[in-house]
Amino acid sequence: MAIHHSARPASYDPVREKLEVELLLEAVYRQYGFDFRSYAYASVRRRLWKRIRAEGLSTISALQDRVLHEPVMMERLLLDLSINVTAMYRDPNFFRAFRTIVVPRLRTYPFIRVWHAGCSSGEEVVSMAILLTEEGLYDRARIYATDINEVVLQRARDAIFPLDRMQEYTENYLRAGGTRSFSEYYTARYDGALFSPSLYANVVFAQHNLVTDRSFSEFHVIFCRNVLIYFDGSLQQRVHGLFHESLATFGVLGVGSKESLRFAPAEARYEPVAQGEKLFRKVR
Ligand SMILES: C[S@@+](CC[C@H](N)C(=O)[O-])C[C@H]1O[C@@H](n2cnc3c(N)ncnc32)[C@H](O)[C@@H]1O
Repeated sequence: MAIHHSARPASYDPVREKLEVELLLEAVYRQYGFDFRSYAYASVRRRLWKRIRAEGLSTISALQDRVLHEPVMMERLLLDLSINVTAMYRDPNFFRAFRTIVVPRLRTYPFIRVWHAGCSSGEEVVSMAILLTEEGLYDRARIYATDINEVVLQRARDAIFPLDRMQEYTENYLRAGGTRSFSEYYTARYDGALFSPSLYANVVFAQHNLVTDRSFSEFHVIFCRNVLIYFDGSLQQRVHGLFHESLATFGVLGVGSKESLRFAPAEARYEPVAQGEKLFRKVR
């Protein structure tokens, strides 16, 4: 007789499971203020089950009980739900297009404000800082880097990335149009690469929640890459409203390779900057 091992109870009922997920997300919101209620359901469900297994629990309701009574469980769940995977010069062609097409226009501005929304541990931010330095624009730039998750923001402030990723990042940097020796920008510290403090001189890291917080300035460039993909359609639309409101006219919005502006109101307000790359210019 075949024995099927499953993490879920034998009496699995998807309708009840959805109810449990909704109740847990409501509890998280009301107790801690983190609003995951409009995140894409399949992804949230998968993340919850990952945490349930890691804690040796068997139901979503049991996880809810722990989350409500133990703030440390909320911290762990926040790391699961916020998905912090990132890399330097992720999608090098995107950065190359930014450098060759967007930078010449930025040169005409006396001051440049950039927002990395959902910056995770800061790899994208330091990629931008290096690029602007090489293009002679860093001194007149101010980079705001925000994330919902304070744990990854602290990693970003520490400016240390794993040394064993430097080969991959060097290749990305060169493919993205880097013009110097990448190793100039960091020093090896045990198994970490510590990036030069000068790259962080014009960077401000702050906690900001795209779901519940408002716009805080006007920007010439907004990167929000690999974040909206975790949101449902109505939340994506809302966050696009926030970006539109926060971008100067002809400001540039960059999104992730699997993301788009396909939600009608957003799409009509932008035109593509580079064929095949997810860079858009606000035109109205
Ligand atoms: C997959 S990472 C993307 C990092 C980087 N932008 C990149 O493309 O490599 C997604 C980031 O979005 C953040 N995030 C998720 N929900 C958020 C929200 N509501 N407000 C702000 N940041 C959020 C997560 O904490 C995570 O660090």
